[in-house]
Amino acid sequence: MKNIIAIDGPAGAGKSTIAKSLAQELAYLYIDTGAMYRAVAYQALQSGVALTDAGRLAQIAAGAQIDMRLEDGQNKIFLNGREVTAEIRLPQVSAAASPVSAVAAVREQMVPKQRELAARGRVVLDGRDIGTVVLPQADCKIYLTASLDERAERRYKELLTKGLPADLAEVRRDIEERDYRDTHREASPLRQAEDAVYLDTTGLSIEQVLQKVRALAEA
Ligand code: DC
Repeated sequence: MKNIIAIDGPAGAGKSTIAKSLAQELAYLYIDTGAMYRAVAYQALQSGVALTDAGRLAQIAAGAQIDMRLEDGQNKIFLNGREVTAEIRLPQVSAAASPVSAVAAVREQMVPKQRELAARGRVVLDGRDIGTVVLPQADCKIYLTASLDERAERRYKELLTKGLPADLAEVRRDIEERDYRDTHREASPLRQAEDAVYLDTTGLSIEQVLQKVRALAEA
């Protein structure tokens, strides 16, 4: 069994669903790196810091105590001791996390934390730059993606399930914008690592994807 499993890919590709399930099956630690950028973005919004103010954003990232804990089978995120699991999924935080994560000084604060969490091994991480930058030595790298329409549909349904107001066209536009920003930024842009396995999940069920990912983790 692989020791460090890195799953990268664009928004809505199903990374967190798959990473979480796989981690649970293997009794590995699941590290949601996007949640860390979301927590910084949430703090910035709360503090009224402009998303263009790289200096202040870096300060927030440096001062943020972000903890991830598995409680009652749920991955909970804490920011400076306060649980923010639900708040960081709000659409305005999703939108803010993209410019925040593009700030190199913010990434410089987050990447060492991610490496530290992964150092003990038996981990599944998901993000955008795990296989390329954070842990290029990961022994299993997967690039998970799906068509834009399918990813938008999945996110839309997820929001509805949570009882949050959602508009499919808006969700699609938001994902498209994030895709563009995540792949075109200068600092660690989203791209497939050369040694990552490309997995297009369009039209596949969660169980079908999980089956493929499980096989790669066991290979
Ligand atoms: O995976 P997510 O939607 O929770 O990620 C939130 C934002 O953080 C998204 O815009 C991409 C960014 N991100 C990143 O730049 N690097 C990572 N390792 C994880 C997420």
